Amino acid sequence: MIARVRTSLALLALAGSALLAGCERPPINAVQHGFRGTGMDEIYNPRTLARQAPNNTLPEQQPPASPEGPKAGTIYKNLQVLGDLSIGELARHMVSITSWVAPKEGCTYCHDGENFALDAKYTKVVARRMLQMTRHINADWKDHVVQTGVTCFTCHRGNPVPANIWFTAPPARQAAAGRMLGNNAGQNMAAKTVGLSSLPYDPFTPFLLQDGVARIQGDTALPTGNRKSIKQAEWVYGMMMHMSDSLGVNCTYCHNTQAFGNWSGSTPQRARGWYGIQMARELNNDYLAPLVTTLPAQRLGPTGDAPKLNCATCHQGAYKPLYGASMLASHPELIGVPAVAASDGSGTADGAMLFFAVGSATLSEGAARHLTALIESLKAKPGAKAAITGYTSAAGDPAANQDLAKQRAFAVRDALSAAGIGAARVVLEKPASVEANVAGEDPKSRRVEVALK
Ligand code: HEC
Ligand code: HEC
Ligand code: HEC
Ligand code: HEC
Repeated sequence: MIARVRTSLALLALAGSALLAGCERPPINAVQHGFRGTGMDEIYNPRTLARQAPNNTLPEQQPPASPEGPKAGTIYKNLQVLGDLSIGELARHMVSITSWVAPKEGCTYCHDGENFALDAKYTKVVARRMLQMTRHINADWKDHVVQTGVTCFTCHRGNPVPANIWFTAPPARQAAAGRMLGNNAGQNMAAKTVGLSSLPYDPFTPFLLQDGVARIQGDTALPTGNRKSIKQAEWVYGMMMHMSDSLGVNCTYCHNTQAFGNWSGSTPQRARGWYGIQMARELNNDYLAPLVTTLPAQRLGPTGDAPKLNCATCHQGAYKPLYGASMLASHPELIGVPAVAASDGSGTADGAMLFFAVGSATLSEGAARHLTALIESLKAKPGAKAAITGYTSAAGDPAANQDLAKQRAFAVRDALSAAGIGAARVVLEKPASVEANVAGEDPKSRRVEVALK
């Protein structure tokens, strides 16, 4: 009898600890991330962080190579991207990418050992496209990767195929087998892609390949006019689970969870995350998906598509890939030339619209040039005045944004007085209330408008 009670007690204890296995054992550190009182704490587990650290150490760098001597393009036959490097720089680059992408396989992972100029192996063709993609990220996606940027190592970390890739999921099993359950849209699978939740396991196709906008909350108390379905909400939550998981952060890293949709209560990291989504989508559509015709069949997914990237491909569990360490200073060959210089504004004799960088009140030289025609007409019409209004995007803290809008207006006033238009002829209008837009962070809303009056 007693023995039986003991065993059941033991079993109970065992069951109890099994239930608790889903919880994390202390110590857990909570770090305040939002304003005091909002409960926007980040919960860190020091053991998880310790496990993660080795994966985020920088590899050994090759010693610098001399830029002197003839260009590699004049010696080698088939350089379509790297022709401008010196011979030494090309050799250093090749040794570097070998250590980042194919350390076990060596040069012949991409090259025909007899003739390095040949494009016989698909891996070389893919690597060239990767080189162009890396340059494009570093030149044109500063809104996300800032000056830190990425190298092949950010995604590859010594593997020919990065650890985190995804394919479009085939239709759920139930539907495929013609069973009565119908298509469950990939739900209830405890999928790893969505942090082991039972949310739809392929949130990537709608958001990181198609133009899905994560906008599901109604903005009225009663459900009037909100046409978004529960299914759409579940895609969004699935994507959000992936984002949190990839960065090793909680939802509060980006949101005030009292109102997920509200941009003004969100952290600056949310705007960064928004650019992350746009960037991943563009890279998948322009660079990775088209490789389907280059890659061998065994690299393709169950629906015949090429492997694609998501937040985890670069971040690999860290809030910034490699904790924000940059390798670009010693790899300038991976910084591209911006494809199209971001528009810095426009101007006529009657007015101008000048754009600013995120969080900045500095008037760029390019933007200032759009004032030229206006300055000319102000000089020609001594009675005319210039009315200046500053705007900011809706992302971030409203009070700080108001101030930023004012500082931007001041920057333009200063530029006008530097050109000889005295302060008496400049009217500063009240900073325009923060503009709401679909994205929250829209380059066009970070602007100053100047009008001739
Ligand atoms: C991950 C793939 C990859 C690896 C590994 C690699 N290369 Fe390359 N290599 C390329 C690509 C891509 C090009 C062409 C670059 C371009 O078009 O500008 C190239 C071009 C070259 C060229 C110029 C060939 C010509 O005549 O046009 C030489 C030489 C070269 N690599 C040497 C090496 C050496 C030596 C190694 C090993 C230390 C190596 N590569 C490892 C991808 C690779
Ligand atoms: C933003 C992430 C990212 C960066 C940066 C990146 N790659 Fe990749 N790479 C991928 C993904 C995702 C794949 C898988 C798709 C594929 O196999 O085509 C891949 C595949 C490859 C492959 C094909 C491997 C195989 O066996 O099929 C090669 C070679 C390669 N990359 C070389 C490079 C080189 C060289 C660089 C730097 C110049 C680089 N990559 C930078 C994400 C990246
Ligand atoms: C790295 C930043 C980041 C993290 C972490 C994050 N989100 Fe988001 N969230 C965003 C961004 C950016 C959007 C808007 C995306 C868009 O506009 O396409 C968004 C949108 C949403 C929306 C839709 C809001 C609306 O207007 O309808 C919900 C709901 C949401 N997130 C919930 C969550 C939950 C739950 C978590 C934690 C599991 C989470 N988020 C974690 C950045 C983040
Ligand atoms: C091409 C690689 C790459 C991809 C893909 C990528 N990121 Fe990033 N991300 C970076 C780099 C590099 C930084 C560091 C920039 C810096 O030093 O501030 C960064 C920084 C961030 C930050 C700022 C963190 C902070 O504390 O300031 C957030 C948030 C973020 N990424 C979210 C995302 C989300 C969400 C996705 C997927 C939708 C994503 N990223 C996809 C490379 C990437």
